[in-house]
Amino acid sequence: MQLYKVLFFALLLKVANSNGVTYEDEMVLRLTNEINNWVKTGVESQELQSLLDNLAFPASLKRSNWNDFTSKRNTITCVLCRSVFDSLIEFYKNGMSVNDIKSDVIKLCTRLNFGTERVCNGSVTLNLPTILHIIDAKPNLTASSICGVIFESQSCPLIIGDEFKWTINIDSSPPKLIDDYENENIINIIQLTDIHYDRNYEPFGNAYCDEPTCCRRGQNDTNTSNKVAGYWGDYNYCDSPWHAVVDVLEQIKATHQVYHGTWETSFEGNFESINKTYYQIYKTFRNTPVYPILGNHESHPVNLYAPETITDRNINTQWLYNLMAHLWINFGWLPESTRSTILKGGYYTVTPKKGFRIIALNSNVCYSYNWWLWYQPKDPYDQLQWLADTLLQAEKDGEFVHILAHVPANDECQGTWKREYLKIVNRYARIIRAQFNGHTHNDEVQLFYSNDNSSTVNNVAWNGGSATAYSNLNPNYKLYIVDSKNYAVKDIENWMYNLTLANENATQRPLWYKSYSFKEEYKIPDLSYNSLQSWLYKLARDENLLSRYYRNFFKCAEPSLEKECNMVCMRAYVCRIFTSLGDYPSYCN
Ligand SMILES: *[C@@H]1O[C@H](CO)[C@@H](O)[C@H](O)[C@H]1NC(C)=O
Ligand SMILES: *[C@@H]1O[C@H](CO)[C@@H](O)[C@H](O)[C@H]1NC(C)=O
Ligand SMILES: *[C@@H]1O[C@H](CO)[C@@H](O)[C@H](O)[C@H]1NC(C)=O
Ligand SMILES: *[C@@H]1O[C@H](CO)[C@@H](O)[C@H](O)[C@H]1NC(C)=O
Ligand SMILES: *[C@@H]1O[C@H](CO)[C@@H](O)[C@H](O)[C@H]1NC(C)=O
Ligand SMILES: *[C@@H]1O[C@H](CO)[C@@H](O)[C@H](O)[C@H]1NC(C)=O
Ligand SMILES: *[C@@H]1O[C@H](CO)[C@@H](O)[C@H](O)[C@H]1NC(C)=O
Ligand SMILES: *[C@@H]1O[C@H](CO)[C@@H](O)[C@H](O)[C@H]1NC(C)=O
Ligand SMILES: [Zn+2]
Ligand SMILES: [Zn+2]
Repeated sequence: MQLYKVLFFALLLKVANSNGVTYEDEMVLRLTNEINNWVKTGVESQELQSLLDNLAFPASLKRSNWNDFTSKRNTITCVLCRSVFDSLIEFYKNGMSVNDIKSDVIKLCTRLNFGTERVCNGSVTLNLPTILHIIDAKPNLTASSICGVIFESQSCPLIIGDEFKWTINIDSSPPKLIDDYENENIINIIQLTDIHYDRNYEPFGNAYCDEPTCCRRGQNDTNTSNKVAGYWGDYNYCDSPWHAVVDVLEQIKATHQVYHGTWETSFEGNFESINKTYYQIYKTFRNTPVYPILGNHESHPVNLYAPETITDRNINTQWLYNLMAHLWINFGWLPESTRSTILKGGYYTVTPKKGFRIIALNSNVCYSYNWWLWYQPKDPYDQLQWLADTLLQAEKDGEFVHILAHVPANDECQGTWKREYLKIVNRYARIIRAQFNGHTHNDEVQLFYSNDNSSTVNNVAWNGGSATAYSNLNPNYKLYIVDSKNYAVKDIENWMYNLTLANENATQRPLWYKSYSFKEEYKIPDLSYNSLQSWLYKLARDENLLSRYYRNFFKCAEPSLEKECNMVCMRAYVCRIFTSLGDYPSYCN
């Protein structure tokens, strides 16, 4: 028993022995071995018990994003991840039946505290067919490369094999200058993202459950607290009820003269929910142009976007692309010319006006939890090559571009994809006026630093926040005030409501209000890259300004703001703004 305690602490110190075999490797071997014995004999040995006592997930971490863990927890999680996948691969290669693998992995998942039995059963049942398909097709796939793709961190690195060494062919001639006249006329663009409609949302149901999403019908028996789901949504781990989806659409329609709506969606991945939500958007905004994109929640199972070559209808993504091409084009939002790329991989480009191009990406393919990255990591759907080619043509044609994508180019996006994307943005920074992302649910921004001069900002990605309150946030959407000639963003308004207040009276619609405008809130003269660069410099040093950004990041939601966060803690949010292929400021290390 003592031996494991010693190993456990050695593990945290990350020492390697003389053979170059790290203690992590040793732990993985021992744990895998014990797991296999447990499965064979059905008996949990003393050794396994003590290992699991040390390594199993503390309940408090069950819901957290694995990518956010501190390096100690990340190291341990990596050991668990590798052991589980080592075992799974071994079961499969030893000819164990799929049903036996399934029940063993469910048992293991429950024992390791990854979730309740019901949650483990559900997610293993959904994901196992894809995972086994990939293991089948990739005899060389190892647990460390699987876990490396998921975490891709210092404590759980992805050993870059040839498959991950791909690059995009990017035009190397110097950027072309195109005429850039400001003018007084503006257009309004609404960004609505992360709707998270849950057709099982139950107002006054149970908001505190042991599952990934609460406030759902059928969860009453797990009600162990007095947390009752709010009528309009809930700060706990809950998605949104239908009436809240309808409300935000009505609010936008009634309040703004919208010329372009940018709808970044993310909701439960099934045919009925998707059809219902898009139909509601169509009904509400008949004559407003809408540019929809896919989120990681639309696919089924969630997060999984299969390559085109996967024809098995039980695990591929073609049903979703067919549905999107059908709805998006039939509603008159997109022209026929977009059909082929939507069917190929859920992305497209359009030119709403002469000189203005919108490029809508399916960046969900790079999301660390897209298991298909283990199978085919190289530029899924040839999307980035298409992006580079499309931008080259746009530059020739003298167009300005807005890029829409759900998953931002951050730590949760596979490293090679992110690097190539950053290179493309850098090359075409002059014509890309802005990028618009979602997914994090936070009100935040990324500033892109030039590859050629690491102290110059040359692009920006605005994050739209989320229409859902998931989790500990207030619902919001954004209004961008955009120059009608050069398509630069001139200012941004954030619109939201106080969920606490809204839930005090179910019969009254939420009170939406403009919480701030960017220029006024942060006292900057304009949103040029120069101004944003100075703003970021100040943000890292001015506690007052930083507190404001921090408050807006969580959309003024009390449950988030109650947590203690000093200047050092708040700086982590500044570090999320820096986006660069080069070095980060020293306080970000
Ligand atoms: C998983 O859940 C299904 C449906 O509820 C049930 O039939 C099955 O026995 C469960 N499997 C295991 C291994 O618990
Ligand atoms: C697996 O690895 C071996 C040896 O490194 C290599 O020869 C083989 O081509 C690989 N197989 C696949 C399917 O990648
Ligand atoms: C669960 O709770 C809701 C809200 O209080 C209630 O309407 C519903 O009948 C309950 N269901 C069960 C099975 O108890
Ligand atoms: C959950 O429990 C609290 C108190 O324990 C109760 O007030 C509430 O009605 C319960 N909710 C449901 C849906 O049963
Ligand atoms: C999609 O939703 C609309 C509106 O609810 C409905 O009329 C239509 O039949 C649905 N389409 C399908 C294929 O279910
Ligand atoms: C790099 O950018 C900084 C800040 O924008 C500027 O002061 C400096 O002159 C630039 N250096 C070069 C070599 O262009
Ligand atoms: C939200 O409403 C609650 C309840 O009225 C109030 O206590 C809180 O201060 C409000 N929050 C904000 C940010 O206005
Ligand atoms: C709730 O809102 C409705 C409609 O505005 C109003 O008539 C009612 O008095 C409100 N109830 C409470 C308890 O504030
Ligand atoms: Zn989301
Ligand atoms: Zn998302």
